[in-house]
Amino acid sequence: MCGIVGYIGHREAYPIVLKGLKRLEYRGYDSAGIALYDGTDIKLSKTKGKVLDLEHKLESEISTHGSLGIGHTRWATHGVPNDINSHPHYSNSGDLVIIHNGIIENYGSLKQELISRGYTFKSDTDTEVLVNLIEDVKKNENIKLGKAVQIALNQVIGAYAIAVFDKNKPNEIVVARLGSPLAIGIGEDEFFIASDASPFIEYTKNAIYLEDEEMAVVRRHKGVKIRKIKDDSLVDNYIQTLQLNLEQIEKGGYDHFMLKEIYEQPNAIRDTFRGRLRTDEAIIKMSGVEDNMKKFLNADRIIVVACGTSWHAGLVSEYIFEDLARIPVEVEYASEFRYRNPVITDRDIVIAISQSGETADTLAAIKLAKSKGAFVFGVCNVVGSSISRETHAGAYTHAGPEIGVASTKAFTTQITVLTLIALRLARAKGTISSSEFRHQMIELELIPDKVKKALESDDYVKSIAEIYKNASNFLYLGRGFNFPVALEGALKLKEISYIHAEGYPAAEMKHGPIALIDENMPIVVIATKKGHYEKVVSNIQEIKSRKGKIIGIVTEGDKQVRELADHVIEVPETIESLTPLLTTIPLQLLSYHIALMLGKNVDQPRNLAKAVTVE
Ligand code: AGP
Ligand code: GLU
Repeated sequence: MCGIVGYIGHREAYPIVLKGLKRLEYRGYDSAGIALYDGTDIKLSKTKGKVLDLEHKLESEISTHGSLGIGHTRWATHGVPNDINSHPHYSNSGDLVIIHNGIIENYGSLKQELISRGYTFKSDTDTEVLVNLIEDVKKNENIKLGKAVQIALNQVIGAYAIAVFDKNKPNEIVVARLGSPLAIGIGEDEFFIASDASPFIEYTKNAIYLEDEEMAVVRRHKGVKIRKIKDDSLVDNYIQTLQLNLEQIEKGGYDHFMLKEIYEQPNAIRDTFRGRLRTDEAIIKMSGVEDNMKKFLNADRIIVVACGTSWHAGLVSEYIFEDLARIPVEVEYASEFRYRNPVITDRDIVIAISQSGETADTLAAIKLAKSKGAFVFGVCNVVGSSISRETHAGAYTHAGPEIGVASTKAFTTQITVLTLIALRLARAKGTISSSEFRHQMIELELIPDKVKKALESDDYVKSIAEIYKNASNFLYLGRGFNFPVALEGALKLKEISYIHAEGYPAAEMKHGPIALIDENMPIVVIATKKGHYEKVVSNIQEIKSRKGKIIGIVTEGDKQVRELADHVIEVPETIESLTPLLTTIPLQLLSYHIALMLGKNVDQPRNLAKAVTVE
């Protein structure tokens, strides 16, 4: 999920690869490594930490000479961030060396098979399994590296961008992609490989972007040969002339990380349920839950602890757990919980939610819960983070690095993980039927495409932002599953535009906030079909009578709210429990556009930090 760089040509590879890794730092990562071919052997150095740490370590460890090299920034998915798990990884013979971004889902069974054939593993990564699988195929079939990579990849389920070379054939690098990006820069008798063009833009503007399920053999002096991984058919080289500047490339062509991350949500959600949601077999597989099923089934209640956006995801999960799995849930601000002397027993399960896995209050809440005997389960994005280490078990969100301070894809992927857990428990407890279970799985599987559809409202949302950008207050209303979404929408606006905004359960409005409503007050109302629709429509009537400006978030094809509201933004239809994954999207876009129009720093709002590691 992070960065790949490679070089083969007539110059020294090291400075190009090192600088390339620095260019890819914006993607977020936890470790880095480089392998060079010095004319006789592979020289490899890698470390947990920053590229700068790698630079210091590498230059004291190995010779930096050679015109073939690959480098990697790792964002751990399998195995904690440490020196050993960092890439590149050698095959058992030491002949092959690989870098990989992505996830090999079936690495467990492949690993077992390789172990039974005598292979050993140094790291916990899925990547080391892949390089040994390639080696195994290559040896057994006595074939070239390119062919071996192709056969191996046909046995792999998952996502990858890889670069691999063989020290006995140091005139080629084999690359492949499925789900993770990979570009090949074409220079004068030299070739560059990278996750995006930023590492090579200063050397060449000519690039080939591999498509999913394509691989390429990049040969010194000879050029690039691209094939389809599945059927070995040759693909024409489509060389593009790049017109982007560096800055744009780092943000994947988006103006801000926040926007990039908003748009990454379809893929991020898919990555979250990849390998876990097995609709065909009608099972949900999450080892952290499976291994502790007894504890979950015997629990008296679940207590969720979190802060900020993660707390909002926790609130959504309260509705989901109670509705599907019939387990009582309490959702606590970690900062309150830790100082409240809460009543906790060993029959409680505490779920700690945190994107960064470093939030000080959440960490302290976990320690307190553990000291009182609770079983603590973590839902984190950053692999190997303090919270993921401090909890008894957990499930990662696999959303990829989130760099914008305002959380977007972390929120939707947290809800996705929590939904998976609730569904798994519901099935184990028998609180939903097998047909309902299946139905919910199918609906969840459709969500990435529906998020994509919801993103199509972007221009329209922008036009609404233009109208209300100068408002000094906003209200956000929602009910049921969408009440936390109202809170999250208000938080997003506050954080990056500094406009005061409040989120409320729609029916609470008449107990106070209704006094604020006049013709200057924009009110965002989440009014999707199902979910107390008629009641929310009544709330909208109440706002209209007081001349408030209504921005309705509605289900596609809605007529009733359209008649009452000043603006309606449609999202695709889904089952009620999954609507937050869609209704959140226009709210993220609205805050983004308003903040931008007001000239605010969208990615780094004032006074805020990405990980709040102090109380
Ligand atoms: C969200 O947009 C925030 N910047 C903030 O509320 C964040 O969600 C909170 O600090 C918790 O962070 P965590 O998920 O990394 O623990
Ligand atoms: N799954 C691999 C690992 O955990 C690659 C992670 C990445 O994309 O950086 O090492």
